Amino acid sequence: MVKILLVDHSGRGHAFADLLTRTNQQAIVYYAPGCTAITSERIISLPWLKLSEPQAMVEFAQKEAVDFALVTNAGALANGVVDCFREHQIPVIGPDKQAARLEASKAYGKKLCVKYNIPVADFAVFADPNKAMDYVRQVGYQVVVKADGLCDGNGSFVCDTVDDALQAIDRIMLKKDFGEAGNQVVVEKRLFGTELLLFALVDGKNFLLLPTALDYPKSDDGDLGVICGGMGSLSPHPLEGVFSMDQIVEQVLEPLMGCIRGENLSFNGAIYVGCMLVNDQVYVLEINARMGDPEAESILPKIESDFVSICTSILDGTLDNHSLIINDLYFCNIVATQGKTRQVTRGKNKGWYKGWPYGRYGKHYKITGLDQVDRSCCKVFIGQASVHPKKGLVTDGGRPIHIVGFGNNRQEAVANAYANIDKVHFKGMRYRSDIGKLLPEMELPTVP
Ligand code: GLY
Repeated sequence: MVKILLVDHSGRGHAFADLLTRTNQQAIVYYAPGCTAITSERIISLPWLKLSEPQAMVEFAQKEAVDFALVTNAGALANGVVDCFREHQIPVIGPDKQAARLEASKAYGKKLCVKYNIPVADFAVFADPNKAMDYVRQVGYQVVVKADGLCDGNGSFVCDTVDDALQAIDRIMLKKDFGEAGNQVVVEKRLFGTELLLFALVDGKNFLLLPTALDYPKSDDGDLGVICGGMGSLSPHPLEGVFSMDQIVEQVLEPLMGCIRGENLSFNGAIYVGCMLVNDQVYVLEINARMGDPEAESILPKIESDFVSICTSILDGTLDNHSLIINDLYFCNIVATQGKTRQVTRGKNKGWYKGWPYGRYGKHYKITGLDQVDRSCCKVFIGQASVHPKKGLVTDGGRPIHIVGFGNNRQEAVANAYANIDKVHFKGMRYRSDIGKLLPEMELPTVP
């Protein structure tokens, strides 16, 4: 038996738990806090362990003598959960707090990119909103304004006009829409090209590429609305084979590994890099110190290798001994999100919650229909949901349920996902209708 303590509370966490138990029959996953509605015999959720309370997790790991911990939640990484495990000599996969700053501070990540010759768009960092506003007024090109800290997938504003940029700075730095994460902003030159994501596992020295994926970061159909954590994903990426992965590895991943080694960062686990291909040049848009969500839900089911053995190699620093066995299936993840609902307090109608990701959203609505989903062509990953003593499974966040259709080609995977998400219900449930259907241009565009 191999005991693993997995730290997360998302569809991504459930996808990791599924991968570990599917590819290794000896694996027992303690999933903290997880969700008790996950009924697999070898996935045991621990809802009383909070992401913000690492000491309790350490005590649990010691009591149960877990073989290792795997921390996949961005907030937990930024809060130093990994450091706490290391202090107690518990083998753990995940970057420590300093290494997780690659994601937790965009300014830090960008500055390291410059230091290690990793191509990024021109940028500037500001702690003073007036200086940031002066900069966007005079810079003379379109910009993207980003809150420096973690914003749960939000906090980035792609601006068409100077006014848009001023409003973004106002929201981030003055109105503090993202709290402390908005103490600084990064203002970078807006690039036009094809967005690509790069996913890999790293052991501090070596990397192992993961399957490619396309994400849908905008809230609304037609890639409209606001940038959010993501409304769905597709793996493999439909442009796989059109762009050169070797080039991206050479220009991005190898120097990034050089940065991890050069800065002596204690970084093992997953890394995912958002890139933009402009003509033949690749630029890094963002570095994330973990797997993407909702990308993990369509990438991880492609893996057939024993993932416990891969984790052991990550811990030993011998990832170079592994290659990844992946299946030929296509996976399409559609996220059932918490949309608009009426706000009712003590029987009184108080107006509307706008719903995720536009504003406040209601919680604890009963989720039904998961038992109707056809598991021969769909996986179900439970994200921000919990079990209510009377209602059973209820919503508990912006992205409660992921329905992941699979098939021998993209069309089949997409059709299976849509045929089955319609069987799921909760109050205010909302999903995009073009996941896996709206695709990037097959011809790589040139700079306008
Ligand atoms: N898919 C965006 C994220 O995981 O941050």
